[in-house]
Amino acid sequence: MKVISLINLKGGVGKTISSINIACILASKGNSVLIIDNDKQGNTSKFFNVHDYDEPGISEVLTIKDFDIERVIKNTKYSGLDVIQANMTLLRANKEVLMDVSRPQQTRLKRALKKIEYKYDYCVIDNAPDINMSIINALVASDDVLVPIKVDKFAFDGLEQLTEQIEEVKEFNEHLQFKGCFITMFRKNKVNMQGAEWIRNNGNYPMFKTIIRNTVKVDETTFTGQSLQEYAKNSTAAKDYLSLVNEYLECD
Ligand SMILES: Nc1ncnc2c1ncn2[C@@H]1O[C@H](COP(=O)(O)OP(=O)(O)O)[C@@H](O)[C@H]1O
Ligand SMILES: [Mg+2]
Repeated sequence: MKVISLINLKGGVGKTISSINIACILASKGNSVLIIDNDKQGNTSKFFNVHDYDEPGISEVLTIKDFDIERVIKNTKYSGLDVIQANMTLLRANKEVLMDVSRPQQTRLKRALKKIEYKYDYCVIDNAPDINMSIINALVASDDVLVPIKVDKFAFDGLEQLTEQIEEVKEFNEHLQFKGCFITMFRKNKVNMQGAEWIRNNGNYPMFKTIIRNTVKVDETTFTGQSLQEYAKNSTAAKDYLSLVNEYLECD
């Protein structure tokens, strides 16, 4: 099982939409895929209709000793794609993990995933714009890090801290690789084109060639709860996410 973390310390850059569509595309290629919502906002969980305060989810995986992760895995309507939900209890779970020094704090998700790694080809983790215990757990459990970025003057804010965090996590997980950043929500105007050019030339970070274009279809899918491939197969973003996954698979 390959574990992919989508992460950026900034909100609203397309982490959730990217996680969902990358996971759906990997599943549509015949892979068995698990998507983990690791953001207390629970947007991925809401998207797949599994958001529920009364049900356990990622919070319990992180806080309860010997918790059976299979209990929190739910099917989605997409063949080959399962999901683990997050909700606001993750806020508390983060504090609990921090305070509970009775067992290792950073490797809990990794240990839990070990039990189900034979079941899945890929695990995609949609992270919160933060560095906290649940994010560190995600990085420790991951093989690859993908970073969606939006073109603006602040595009690289936080990337230095994220890179430092990735380096620190390597102490627990030497396999972790910063695979690359990719531009999301790209509009064909002067500022976006110059910005993308600037990002390509000035960042000290690996970049994917694929750029995800902006389309209203993406917002629409958040209401219909469908992947871009299903809802608007011929839309720019649907094609771009497919290219991104192919580019990712090729560089693997
Ligand atoms: N390619 C895109 N085109 C248009 N809107 C997009 C695109 N990608 C994301 N969005 C919209 O931008 C907003 C933020 O995306 P989201 O994935 O939730 O970001 P994050 O998880 O980083 O906070 C959402 O309203 C989403 O529908
Ligand atoms: Mg999100």
